[in-house]
Amino acid sequence: MPNKANHIAIIMDGNGRWAQNRGRQRIAGHERGAEVVRDITTFCSDHKEVKQLTLYAFSTENSKRPALEVDFLMKLLGKYLKRELPFYLNNNVKFKAIGDISKFSKKLQKIIVTTEQETKSCTGLTQSLALNYGSRNELMRAVNRIDKPCSEVKEADIAAALDCKKDVDLLIRTGGDHRLSNYLLWQAAYAELFFTDTLWPDFTSGELESIISDFKTIERRFGGVK
Ligand code: IPE
Ligand code: IPE
Ligand code: MG
Repeated sequence: MPNKANHIAIIMDGNGRWAQNRGRQRIAGHERGAEVVRDITTFCSDHKEVKQLTLYAFSTENSKRPALEVDFLMKLLGKYLKRELPFYLNNNVKFKAIGDISKFSKKLQKIIVTTEQETKSCTGLTQSLALNYGSRNELMRAVNRIDKPCSEVKEADIAAALDCKKDVDLLIRTGGDHRLSNYLLWQAAYAELFFTDTLWPDFTSGELESIISDFKTIERRFGGVK
């Protein structure tokens, strides 16, 4: 049986370089990157096998960037979510945020929570956006949430307390680097990893389709033998 790309996670990297290659400011790359998010979400929502798409939009470490870039990203996120609500509803896509959004402005938190509430009855694809997300931060919050003596904590208790509860099948990083940058370290334990040099603003559904077909041919053994 070919593998099923049930849960795809993407590290959307390369926006800044895409803009700089064109003599433009880094933020122009983020703007273009947001358009690609819509294209890829549409493709996944039309692809019946894909149930969840988890996209890395802002890491816990990204707040080290210059304030102007961080402010721009926060504004872009708010604008994007407001503008995309009809898209989510028309495509039956459920939106979910993962990460510690309590550090965001009250206004942005409200937009995020409203988008989650408005789309909560959608039954198609789940699009999770990782916002102020870091795997270590997520694990730390999860552990603090578990109401049991440490000696009784099972793997399943930790998995259930994480923001992202589903194991990743296919993890893709665009932008040419081969690292996880604190993304879904628990959930990607047995994910198939794909790295492409394509910068995120140039990433297309055609390339995703070709990665999915390569993924289908891999023998996933999960430590066993075939
Ligand atoms: C990824 O693109 C988007 C975010 C981290 C918000 P980058 O902004 O990291 O782009 P590069 O890697 O510098 O080209
Ligand atoms: C990872 O990209 C985070 C996101 C894509 C949101 P970075 O550009 O922040 O990662 P590093 O700094 O190259 O590891
Ligand atoms: Mg980067």
